[in-house]
Amino acid sequence: MPVLVNVEGQLVPPEQATVSVFDRGFLYGDSVYEVARTYGGRPFELGRHLDRMDRSADRIGLTLPPRERIEGEIQRTLDAARNPESYVRIVVTRGEGRFGLSPHLAQGMSRMFVIVRPLEPAPREQYEKGLQVAVTLTRRNPTACLDPSLKTGNYMNNILALREAHAAGADDALLLDLRGQVTEASTSNVFFVQKGIVVTPPLALGMLQGVTRTVVLEVARGEGLIVREEPFGPEALAAADEVFVTSTIREVMPVTSLVLLGGAAPDVRRIGDRKQGPVTRRLHEAFRKYVARTHGA
Ligand SMILES: Cc1ncc(COP(=O)(O)O)c(C=O)c1O
Repeated sequence: MPVLVNVEGQLVPPEQATVSVFDRGFLYGDSVYEVARTYGGRPFELGRHLDRMDRSADRIGLTLPPRERIEGEIQRTLDAARNPESYVRIVVTRGEGRFGLSPHLAQGMSRMFVIVRPLEPAPREQYEKGLQVAVTLTRRNPTACLDPSLKTGNYMNNILALREAHAAGADDALLLDLRGQVTEASTSNVFFVQKGIVVTPPLALGMLQGVTRTVVLEVARGEGLIVREEPFGPEALAAADEVFVTSTIREVMPVTSLVLLGGAAPDVRRIGDRKQGPVTRRLHEAFRKYVARTHGA
C-alpha cells in the first residue's frame, strides 16, 4: 500500500484519513510537524528531526507523545506501507476543545498523525541543470513575530513567497529578512560558494535549522573546506561561483539562476555557468557518502 496514514495509532488509507474541523491544527495551524525520509527503508537522522520537533513543541507549549511512541508509530506505518523508500510526515496538533483561540481551551490531548508516501526524489537531470529561484518581495517572518526556527503548521509566509516565485516563473522562492539579508528558501536552506569558500546565513537571522544544512556543514568541514556562517544579501548570491539549497527531499540541489523581483521587470541573473558546480557536486557526493556510512544505503 503506497500511501498510508497513521491517525492516532490507526493505519488507514488516505481516503479514510480524516481530522475534525474543530482540530486546532486545522483551524489555526496550531501544530508542529517534521518531514523525514528513508534511505534503505530506514528513517534518516530521525533523532535530529525529533529533537527539532521537541524544540518547536516546547516553544509553543504543546505536549508531544513520548518519543518511543512517536518512533514506534513511524516504524509501524513504514513497515505496513512497505515502500522501497518513503517520505514521512509527522504532525502533532494541539487537538480540540471549546471553540476559541486560547490554547488553554484545548483539552490537553494532542493528536498525532503520520503520513507515509513513496518518496518522489527530484529527477536526476534537475541536479545537473539546477533550479531557478526568485528573491521575493515577501520577507521572512521576523524572529520576534513568528520565529521561522519553529516548524509549525503555520506556513503562510512560505506559501505567499512561493506564490510570488511561481508567478515569476521560478521554481522556488528565496526570502530575505526585513534588513534585506538572505534567510532561506520556502522549504530549503541556502548556501553559496565563492573562491572555494562555502557560506550560509547564520541561524540567528531567523530560519529553520535544517537537518540537511547541519549534515552538509559537518561534511563540508570534514572535506577540509572553509565554511562560514555569515549574513549576506542577494547580490552576493548573484555574484557567487555556485549556489545550492539543501533539504531532506532535495539533498544538495544547485541553483543556477536567480530572479530579482521588485524592479520594472524581473532581473534574471545567471549563476556560474548554469549547471551544477564542482563544490556543489563534491558536497552532494560527500552527503551521499555520509548516508551510506550511517544507513548503509
Ligand atoms: C522553511 C524550511 N527551511 C529549511 C528546510 C530544510 O530542512 P531539512 O533539511 O530538515 O529538510 C525546510 C524543510 O522542510 C523548511 O520547511
